Parts: sequence; C-alpha cells; structure tokens
Amino acid sequence: MKSVLVTCMALLAGLAGAENVSQKRDDKGVIKMKLDHLNRKGYLVEMRFGSNKEKASLWLETSSSDIWLPSSGVNCTSSDSDCESLGSFNWAQSSSFHDNVTAHNFSYYFDPDSIQGIWGYDNVVVGGVEVKDLTFGVAQESIYSGGVCGIGKKEKESNLLYVNETAYENLPLKMKSQGLINKAAYSIFLNSSDAIEGQLLFGGVDHAKYEGQLVTLPKASNGPFSGPFVAMDYLYFNENPSMSNKTNVTQEIPPPYRAKINVGVEWSNLPHDIFQQFAVNVNATWNDTSSLWNVPCDSASLMTVGFAFSNISIEVPLTDLIYSPVNGTCVLTVFPFYNDESMSYISLGHNFLRHVYAVFDMEDDTVSIARAKYTDEEDIVAFSGSISSNSTAIDSSDSSNPGSSSVAAHSQPAKSSSKNEGMVHGTSILGFVAILLAHLSIF
Ligand SMILES: *[C@@H]1O[C@H](CO)[C@@H](O)[C@H](O)[C@H]1NC(C)=O
Ligand SMILES: *[C@@H]1O[C@H](CO)[C@@H](O)[C@H](O)[C@H]1NC(C)=O
Ligand SMILES: *[C@@H]1O[C@H](CO)[C@@H](O)[C@H](O)[C@H]1NC(C)=O
Ligand SMILES: *[C@@H]1O[C@H](CO)[C@@H](O)[C@H](O)[C@H]1NC(C)=O
Ligand SMILES: *[C@@H]1O[C@H](CO)[C@@H](O)[C@H](O)[C@H]1NC(C)=O
Ligand SMILES: *[C@@H]1O[C@H](CO)[C@@H](O)[C@H](O)[C@H]1NC(C)=O
Ligand SMILES: *[C@@H]1O[C@H](CO)[C@@H](O)[C@H](O)[C@H]1NC(C)=O
Ligand SMILES: *[C@@H]1O[C@H](CO)[C@@H](O)[C@H](O)[C@H]1NC(C)=O
Ligand SMILES: *[C@@H]1O[C@H](CO)[C@@H](O)[C@H](O)[C@H]1NC(C)=O
Ligand SMILES: *[C@@H]1O[C@H](CO)[C@@H](O)[C@H](O)[C@H]1NC(C)=O
Ligand SMILES: *[C@@H]1O[C@H](CO)[C@@H](O)[C@H](O)[C@H]1NC(C)=O
Ligand SMILES: *[C@@H]1O[C@H](CO)[C@@H](O)[C@H](O)[C@H]1NC(C)=O
Repeated sequence: MKSVLVTCMALLAGLAGAENVSQKRDDKGVIKMKLDHLNRKGYLVEMRFGSNKEKASLWLETSSSDIWLPSSGVNCTSSDSDCESLGSFNWAQSSSFHDNVTAHNFSYYFDPDSIQGIWGYDNVVVGGVEVKDLTFGVAQESIYSGGVCGIGKKEKESNLLYVNETAYENLPLKMKSQGLINKAAYSIFLNSSDAIEGQLLFGGVDHAKYEGQLVTLPKASNGPFSGPFVAMDYLYFNENPSMSNKTNVTQEIPPPYRAKINVGVEWSNLPHDIFQQFAVNVNATWNDTSSLWNVPCDSASLMTVGFAFSNISIEVPLTDLIYSPVNGTCVLTVFPFYNDESMSYISLGHNFLRHVYAVFDMEDDTVSIARAKYTDEEDIVAFSGSISSNSTAIDSSDSSNPGSSSVAAHSQPAKSSSKNEGMVHGTSILGFVAILLAHLSIF
C-alpha cells in the first residue's frame, strides 16, 4: 500500500516538474502507469473515478475495449470473493457523473447474465492525469472481484458488437482527443516473471526496455473473438541452448491458424491439434489425477520454446511456461483449446508476453514486438503525430547495447500457492473463461 502511494506521488511529482526527471529524452505526452502484478493473478491498473477520486484497480485487457467496474453496494454473487475488494465506484455521490440509463444499460458481453449495470461517463484519473468525460460501465450485479480496463480497438466495444449502438471514444482515443497523448497507441512491458510490477505507457515507448528492433507483426484477419490477431509461422524447441549438441525441433503452425496477443490472460492456449504436437515436443504427459499436463522438471529447466513470426522470434524458457504447485511437479501453463473452429487460434498470454516489449497502435491497427530487456534504465519517447511513417520513433534500435542480459537468465517458474488459485483465480475474467474452455476440452 505504502509503495503504491509512494509511486503515485513520484509519478505526480514527475509530471509536475518534468525538467528534473532523470530521463534522456522528452517524455511529455506520455502517461505512465504501473502494472501491478502483486497477487500474480493478472495485471492491475489503478484509476480514480469521479469527483471524489475513488480509487479502484482494474484488470488490464487489450482484447476488450470497454472499461467497467463494480458499483459500491454491488449485488455480488461471487461465492468466494468480495466484488469490491479491488475498489468500487459510488456513482451517486460523484457530482460529475452522467448516466446513460435512458439509452441502454450495461452488460458485459462475455458474461451478460452475470454482469449488469449502467453506462455513464465521468472524469477519471489515469497515471496522475485527468481524462474528462470518459465512458465506462458501472456494474450493479457482478460475480467477479474487480472490473476490467479494456484498451482494445474501438471496433471491439461491446456497444457496437452486441447492442448495435454507436461507438464511443474509449480510453486511448479519449486521451488522444483531449491532447494528453499525441497518438492513440501504447506500450506494454510486463517485466520478468518474478517481478511484481511492469509498466504501461500511453502515447510513448521506452526504448531501453527491449533488445534489437521493434518489429510490426503481420496482421491476420479477425475472427469471432476480438484480437489483435497476428500471423505466426512455427514453434521451435531447443533442448539445451547452451550446449553444442542441442536439438532443435521445429513445429509448423499450418494456416489458417493465427495468434492473438492476449494481455489479460495469465496462461497461453493452443488449438487442440497444435497442442498435441506441442505436448510431445516438450515431453508433457497427461496426469489423470490432477487432470493437468506435467513436464519433467529437470528437462524443463533446460529447454527453450521459440515462437517464430515472419520477422522475429521470441524464445521463452520452458520454466516460464510451467508452474510448480507441488514440490517436484511441474505443470504446463499452455493449455489446449476446444477442438472447435471458433477456438482455432493461438492465444499468447502473460507467460509469453513477459518476454516481449509490445507496442499497440490503435490508429494504424498494428502490434509491434521486440524481445524484452529487464532493466531499470529508461529511454522514453513520445509518439509523434505520425508514428507509422516515422520509422525512427518505433524502430529505433538499441544497437549501442550489445551483450545485454539474456532473457533466460531471468527465468523463474511461476509461483502459485495452490493449484486452484493458479488455475482459476490466476487469470482475469477472459482468462478464466479461456481456462474453463480449456478444461472442458480435457474432460
Ligand atoms: C533538479 O536536479 C538538480 C540536479 O540533480 C538538483 O540540484 C536540483 O535541486 C533539482 N531541482 C529540483 C527543483 O528538484
Ligand atoms: C442490489 O439489489 C437490491 C435488491 O434487488 C437493490 O435494492 C439494490 O439497489 C441493488 N444494488 C445495486 C448496487 O444496484
Ligand atoms: C437501465 O437501468 C435503470 C435502473 O438500473 C432503469 O431505470 C432504466 O430504465 C434502464 N434503462 C433501459 C434502457 O433499460
Ligand atoms: C444495426 O443497425 C444498423 C443501422 O441502424 C441496421 O441496419 C442493422 O440491421 C442493425 N443490426 C442489428 C443486428 O440490429
Ligand atoms: C453516453 O452518453 C454520452 C453523451 O450522450 C455518449 O457520448 C456516449 O457514447 C454514451 N455512452 C454509451 C456507452 O452509450
Ligand atoms: C521490473 O521488476 C523489477 C524487479 O521487481 C523492478 O525493480 C522494476 O522496477 C520493474 N520495472 C518496471 C518498469 O516496472
Ligand atoms: C551434450 O553435451 C554435454 C556436454 O558436452 C554432455 O554432457 C551430454 O551428455 C551431451 N548430451 C547428449 C544427449 O549427447
Ligand atoms: C532453431 O530452429 C529455428 C527454425 O529453423 C531457427 O529459427 C532458430 O534460429 C534455431 N535455433 C538454434 C539455436 O539453432
Ligand atoms: C499427478 O498429479 C498429482 C496430483 O497433483 C501429483 O501428486 C503427482 O505427482 C502427479 N504425477 C506426476 C507424474 O507428475
Ligand atoms: C523426454 O523424455 C525422455 C524420457 O523421459 C528423455 O529421454 C528426453 O531427454 C526428454 N526430452 C526432453 C526434450 O525433455
Ligand atoms: C522439495 O523437496 C525436497 C526433498 O523432499 C526438499 O529438500 C526441498 O526443500 C523441497 N522444496 C520445496 C520448495 O518445498
Ligand atoms: C521522427 O522521430 C524523431 C526522433 O524520435 C523526431 O525527432 C522527429 O521529429 C520525428 N519526425 C516526425 C515527422 O514526426
């Protein structure tokens, strides 16, 4: 708690006296937010709502585009948790709140029966900066702890997708239209698997936090679920990258499979048939007792899994794709999806994304990634008005930093106190559904 406050104050101080912040370049027009991974159940962003600046932490998601949070006094039907434990909003007490109840009411499209409430707009403080008249949902009924900060594309607003209403300016667009950032784009650095916080930058990029080039991934067509979807070529498996006699097995990803960069889900999922081969390649075996896939812990510590896109490969130590709830048992945190067309995509969750620095550009509809570099150095640059045509802003490479620490050096198995916590609460809501689906496909 104390450290949260300190960080907040430091941020505010940083914004107030920007001249004295120890950064190499001008970061005006960049809004910095801490990604809180303290509970290891997903990444939370802290925001303040309404005239009373009520504090609430919301689960960050890039595959949904609406913000919603529980109302104070929400009718909470969660059996095992308090819906308001991460904060709630007493909208009736906010003098600047406007509701939209005459138009239509709010329900969370992924779970319309469980989450219902009203739409409204109010002033919201994000990273020490006030965004005026931001539209969000206030849940009066919920079954979940906390709400969601969806910062995906406008086209994926639930209003548009499920109610046939007009789109509104969601958080990144509102920041742009109010001149708080130059471009509706943001960068996500989840940090290493043992870190308790990462960083989200609206309107800018931190060039110190990655190695090599930030490359724009080839786009894949969107499916029934919200993206962003990118084309992925193959997976590869190195048994021991540091030894000369390493093996290097390649597993093609046949078309039309595509991958979704899924900030909001702890674990990753593969289509059923891709998973079958993946399990063979990582030596995973089905455990009938736990209904989970186990890998031998000793070989896991030697293996790297490569995720190859047309212009970049990201290598993830297998130890970052497992967790060890029980001493000596290593459980895979890559799961099969249903053998169902609608789930025939690869979902790359936090266990993959901790190894990349990712830039999401809402205006040009692109996702760019580079290998993450875990460092305390900072080189934050605001996106210019026309970032897509200004290759230096996004592609600026850190060639001055050779021999930087390898990703593998930071690897640590995900820690979780119990299997259930890791499996069910170890995800945000969308992740929870994905895991549920994964399990249904197993049983
Ligand atoms: C700004 O930084 C300089 C050098 O670090 C320091 O001497 C000075 O007191 C700082 N000014 C403010 C207002 O913090
Ligand atoms: C919860 O339900 C009760 C009874 O239906 C209702 O009076 C109350 O207003 C509801 N709470 C909220 C926050 O909507
Ligand atoms: C929305 O809900 C409020 C009460 O929560 C109700 O008064 C209003 O009529 C509803 N609006 C619509 C369009 O259903
Ligand atoms: C959505 O609205 C458009 C334009 O008003 C209309 O043509 C279309 O039929 C509507 N779709 C649904 C599913 O209601
Ligand atoms: C709520 O009302 C405002 C003002 O009329 C409008 O701009 C916004 O799009 C509405 N939000 C929703 C979710 O309908
Ligand atoms: C990344 O994690 C390390 C270790 O926990 C921490 O010191 C550092 O501040 C984090 N970086 C960011 C940008 O959050
Ligand atoms: C690979 O090389 C290491 C060191 O040279 C050796 O100890 C190990 O047995 C070799 N493994 C295989 C499978 O040949
Ligand atoms: C393993 O194979 C993949 C695909 O052929 C290649 O991109 C990668 O560089 C190889 N890695 C090593 C360490 O040989
Ligand atoms: C299978 O799961 C059970 C229960 O979690 C565990 O005790 C056992 O060690 C697992 N077996 C293997 C081979 O990992
Ligand atoms: C897979 O398991 C077999 C038998 O347990 C072992 O010989 C082999 O080295 C393992 N391979 C990997 C990649 O872990
Ligand atoms: C795992 O088990 C071994 C042997 O029983 C023990 O020495 C070790 O401390 C245990 N580690 C943990 C983290 O419980
Ligand atoms: C391109 O980026 C460079 C360095 O980041 C900046 O100085 C320049 O003004 C930008 N140009 C445009 C047209 O945005």
